[in-house]
Amino acid sequence: MKAAVMRANKAPLAIENVEIDQPGPGEVLLRTVASGICHSDLHVIEGHLPVPPPCILGHEPAGIVEAVGEGVTGFAPGDPVIGCLTSWCGVCKFCTQGRPYLCPTQFAGRPFGAKPRLAAADGAPIGQFANLSSFAERMLCPERSLVKIRPEMPLDRASLIGCGVTTGLGAVLNTVHVPAGASVAVIGCGGVGLAAIQGARIVGASRIIAVDAQPWKFDLAKALGATDCVDAKAGDPVGAVQALTAGGVDFAFECIGLVPTVQQAVAMTGRGGTTVLVGVVPITEFVPIHAADLTLQEKKITGSYMGSNRFRFDMPKYVDFYLDGRLRLDEMISQRIELDGVNDAFERMRKGESARQVIVFE
Ligand SMILES: NC(=O)c1ccc[n+]([C@@H]2O[C@H](COP(=O)([O-])OP(=O)(O)OC[C@H]3O[C@@H](n4cnc5c(N)ncnc54)[C@H](O)[C@@H]3O)[C@@H](O)[C@H]2O)c1
Ligand SMILES: [Zn+2]
Ligand SMILES: [Zn+2]
Repeated sequence: MKAAVMRANKAPLAIENVEIDQPGPGEVLLRTVASGICHSDLHVIEGHLPVPPPCILGHEPAGIVEAVGEGVTGFAPGDPVIGCLTSWCGVCKFCTQGRPYLCPTQFAGRPFGAKPRLAAADGAPIGQFANLSSFAERMLCPERSLVKIRPEMPLDRASLIGCGVTTGLGAVLNTVHVPAGASVAVIGCGGVGLAAIQGARIVGASRIIAVDAQPWKFDLAKALGATDCVDAKAGDPVGAVQALTAGGVDFAFECIGLVPTVQQAVAMTGRGGTTVLVGVVPITEFVPIHAADLTLQEKKITGSYMGSNRFRFDMPKYVDFYLDGRLRLDEMISQRIELDGVNDAFERMRKGESARQVIVFE
């Protein structure tokens, strides 16, 4: 099958012919129909997240089941599914607490010494990213990385739910439970931030302020629910958000992953408010903040990982939201591309020229 392989960091992905194994116990083989391109894939390419090459990236997929392994009863050939990187074990502390997205086994892969799921034409193993690797025509996944969805859901739009939409929507709905009437700022209007804006609209936030350095995104942000937009390049975005909200928002969502924008998110958060860190700051970096802001104004800071999801529960609900018109996914797709165009897509992402880009397979 054809796949885009990361052979080295900071280099274009190589389009290669790759071998994929048959499904073993508990595994499902998929035909990939669509894969969104998330900034976390770019973080890996840039070396900001430690994933060793060779590896096939891509973790925002939708596809059709082709075959199932021994013991798989929940899926059958022909089922439409979404894949999610937070697979779970079901028995650990986090799974039994109702927080399966924190399950420490989620990147475990096949047992040590087993045949690799993915290999080069010469048999050399190729790493599978997050049990998914959706920049490939086929995917071999644990059944616990997949959820079946309604057949009427278009799979190019379903793929967005695999990561970005679940992350942004879930940060609002699951991680901090934004209440109706709250004021919200979302810093960064990529796939994740645009989903956070939609989450804020769906729960009935009063003020939804979109902040981005690319003003062309503001029409889109408004169409998806933003009430106000702040151009981060035109003056001080913190002062602009404070002026719009008499001192700061109840909830500020950082959806970029840069040190200065994390600091801005804390500063935009008003007294008693909550800063939610969704963007992934490169793991080698530290973020200095004024601790007294937290103490004297009782601000809170929390991270939000994969929208604090229980994806077998959340993703079919987000599909319902799309099909009943509450969740707008058509507008979020700025480019549909073929697998061969993946490197150009990352170039557009670096320059801020895209909203969500989706690879659509034949
Ligand atoms: N927490 C999680 O579980 C999780 C899951 C998925 C993605 N992420 C992370 O979320 C972040 C966003 O992902 P994405 O796919 O939406 O990225 P993206 O590249 O599509 O969007 C980023 C946006 O930030 C804007 N931006 C960049 N620099 C800016 C600045 N200085 N000021 C204002 N705006 C600026 C860009 O114009 C763009 O609109 C990434 O760090 C990604 O790794 C986290
Ligand atoms: Zn992602
Ligand atoms: Zn677990």
